Amino acid sequence: MDILTILSRWTHVGTAIVIVGGTCFLRFVLSPAAAQLPDAEHAKLKELVMAKWKKFVMAGIVLFIISGFYNYLVVQMPKHRGDGLYHALVGTKILLAFGIFFLASALVGRSKSFEGLRKNAKLWQTVLILLAAIVIGISGYVKFMPGTSGV
Ligand code: HEM
Repeated sequence: MDILTILSRWTHVGTAIVIVGGTCFLRFVLSPAAAQLPDAEHAKLKELVMAKWKKFVMAGIVLFIISGFYNYLVVQMPKHRGDGLYHALVGTKILLAFGIFFLASALVGRSKSFEGLRKNAKLWQTVLILLAAIVIGISGYVKFMPGTSGV
């Protein structure tokens, strides 16, 4: 194991902890508590929180993509050549991850096209958390699939 492999795993897992954990906190702790505030204060708090959280989401997406593709193309590919199931599972995971990135960006963004999605933020945050649980499940499973190269 070289230093880049350790660094990319640390980055990938650390990012998942911060972003998925932060989303659970927003959905199940902050949102229900903030909903008890008067409307104007609730709206202001939401605006302030989202402006800060947006920076975490954007940085998180970049870190997931860099560490994930490094891990996939450089570290795992040589170990799993010809292993159709491994690549199908990782491919599915990557597609789901991009779905999550889309939802997360739309929820913190300001684009008018995704206003409807932001109005139903509770629902879409729950969908995002469920998708993340599937992504983490697939990732945990493929990690223990034996390599085809005997590594
Ligand atoms: C929502 C975004 C994502 C989450 C929550 C996530 C989560 C995880 C977790 C928890 C692991 C297991 C890490 C370990 O125990 O070492 C993992 C591994 C991995 N992830 Fe991600 N990931 C995400 C996005 C991506 C993306 C965009 C890629 C792009 C290629 C990617 C590629 C990989 C690869 C190749 C592995 C290693 C699989 C193996 O051990 O064989 N991930 N991911």
